[in-house]
Amino acid sequence: MILDQSIHDRRGRTMIEKGIFLGPYQIRYLQEKGYRGVYIYDPREESNPLPKRVARVIQRYRVPDRPCITLSDATREELGSSIKSIFDNTSSEYFSDYASNISDKIEKSVLSNDAVAVDISTIRASDQYTFRHSVDVGVLSLMIGQQYGLKGDELHQLGIAGLLHDIGKARVPLSILNKPGKLTAEEFDIIKLHPVYGFEIVRDHHCYSPQILEGILHHHEKLNGEGYPDCLHRGEISNFARIISIADIFDALVTKRPYKNPCTGREAVEMIYAMGSDLDNDMINAFLESVILYPVDSIVKLSNGRAAQVVENYQRYPSRPKCIDVLNGSVIDLCKDEHCMNLVIAS
Ligand SMILES: [Fe+2]
Ligand SMILES: [Fe+2]
Repeated sequence: MILDQSIHDRRGRTMIEKGIFLGPYQIRYLQEKGYRGVYIYDPREESNPLPKRVARVIQRYRVPDRPCITLSDATREELGSSIKSIFDNTSSEYFSDYASNISDKIEKSVLSNDAVAVDISTIRASDQYTFRHSVDVGVLSLMIGQQYGLKGDELHQLGIAGLLHDIGKARVPLSILNKPGKLTAEEFDIIKLHPVYGFEIVRDHHCYSPQILEGILHHHEKLNGEGYPDCLHRGEISNFARIISIADIFDALVTKRPYKNPCTGREAVEMIYAMGSDLDNDMINAFLESVILYPVDSIVKLSNGRAAQVVENYQRYPSRPKCIDVLNGSVIDLCKDEHCMNLVIAS
C-alpha cells in the first residue's frame, strides 16, 4: 500500500513522505511508534470514470486463493518466546516436552483448517530473530512437506526438525550470533558448527528419531557438495534436510537483519529459483506451491508503473499472478500472456 499523506513527528519533521510504499516492516514500525492509522492511497478510488466496468472485470476473473495457514502474529510471538526458553535451557529434562508442545501447536494450525499455503506477508522481521525464525521454518517446512506428500507421523517429525533446526545456535556466543557487521572467517567457522551442536543437543535427549537428527545436522548441506558440515552430495542428503534447507533460506532472505535489508517475496523466490543446482527441484516446486506472495485482492505496482489488483494466483508461479489494471480494467496475466512476460511486480 502507498502512503497518501506524509507522516510527521511531534516537532513537525517529516518521518515518512507521501507516496512511499508501506511494506510489512514500515507498518510494524508505525505500529510500534503508536500510530493507529494512516491515510492510504487507493488507486481504485481514482478509477471513477470506469469503476463499474473495472469492478465487473475483477469480479469475472477473481479466483479466491487456496486456504492459507492462520497463525496470528500474537501466536507467532508467543511460540517464539517459548522457543527462547528451549534455547536457554537445552539440557533441561523438560526440553522435549516443551519442543513437542510448540510443534503440536504449529502443526495444529497448519493441518486444522486444510491450509495448503502460507501468506508470506505474515513472515516478518523480529528483534528475536532466531526464535521467530525457528517458528517460521517449522511452519514452512510443514507446508513444503505436506505439498511434497508427507503425512502423519513423518510430517509431525518434520515439524519438530524444522523447529529445532537451529537449536545448535544456543552454543554459539551471542557476540557472534548477533554481530551487526560482517563476520570474520573465524567467526563464520564458529557459526558453521551450529548444525553439529544442534545434532548433539537433540541426540543427547535420546527421544528423537534419526530423521530429525539428520534434518538438523544437514540443513546447510547443498546438492553440489558445497554445503556444511559434511559436504554431502545429492543422494546423501535426506528429504528432511532438503525441505528445511529451502524453508531456512527463504525465511532468512525475507527477514530483516541488523546487517541486511529484507528481500521482497518475489526477489526471494527468484533467488531460490536461481539456486537450482544447490537445492532439490522437487522440493523447490513443493515450496512454490506452498506460498502466496500476493494474495488475491492485493494492489500491486507493476514495473511499467501501472497499479493492478491481483485476481488469481497460479501454483508454482507465485510471483506471476493474473492482475487487472485498476484504471482501465485490462487483464494482465503475468504468467501466461507473452505480452506481459517482461512485466514484473515492482512493489
Ligand atoms: Fe542453520
Ligand atoms: Fe536457520
